[in-house]
Amino acid sequence: MTQARHLEERVNISKAALTPAQRSNLLDFTARGYALWRARSLALLSGGPLSLEREAAYFRARCRPAPSQQWLDIGTSAGFYAGVLASAGAEVLACDISPAMLREAARREGSPNIRYALLNAEASGLPSQSFDGVSIGATLNETADPERMLGEVHRLLRPGGQLWIMALARDGSALQGLLTWLGGLTFPDEAQLDTWLPQMRRTDGWRRANVVFGRWVKN
Ligand SMILES: C[S@@+](CC[C@H](N)C(=O)[O-])C[C@H]1O[C@@H](n2cnc3c(N)ncnc32)[C@H](O)[C@@H]1O
Repeated sequence: MTQARHLEERVNISKAALTPAQRSNLLDFTARGYALWRARSLALLSGGPLSLEREAAYFRARCRPAPSQQWLDIGTSAGFYAGVLASAGAEVLACDISPAMLREAARREGSPNIRYALLNAEASGLPSQSFDGVSIGATLNETADPERMLGEVHRLLRPGGQLWIMALARDGSALQGLLTWLGGLTFPDEAQLDTWLPQMRRTDGWRRANVVFGRWVKN
């Protein structure tokens, strides 16, 4: 796998254009601690119990990943959604802009169903209509241009393909204001997601405090 210093060439994104949050994910330290944070973060952020098992069960019930399906997991970090998809038999391309995160994901989720790729999912360079499904767990909050990322997802999905999003929605809190200012994070209104996906229809949604989950299908 490419070293972090070569990130610029490989992912076609200038390091200066990365949000501070994106840059923090390039660090080994962040990658090593990510799974621990992920296991607790949604409960902390939603103010109630919300385990990874429950999130995975909700995802499986709505999206029904199956063998022979091709999925793209965008911003895989420690590989949570990639692992859930692979255990259902789906073929997964798990991508991230952080080599450190990809190393961590490969260490934790070593299924032969998963391939890992260092790429910027706002402009992936992957062939059009090559996926049955795309999962995005909180990466929309971190990427520089979430609308551009969703446009790319639309291009990559085959007609009838599905998109799963988990994201932190705007709650107007001072903490979110600070994270936007310091970290360059985006907290979209829930309705904003539909506006960014004009050629897809939402089939499911669930919200716990400011954590939103949704499924869209490409027309
Ligand atoms: C909040 S974490 C994602 C967590 C993971 N999806 C999960 O559900 O556990 C965001 C990840 O997206 C990656 N990322 C941010 N912008 C990206 C982009 N434009 N393309 C690909 N990955 C990106 C970051 O490096 C980071 O690992």
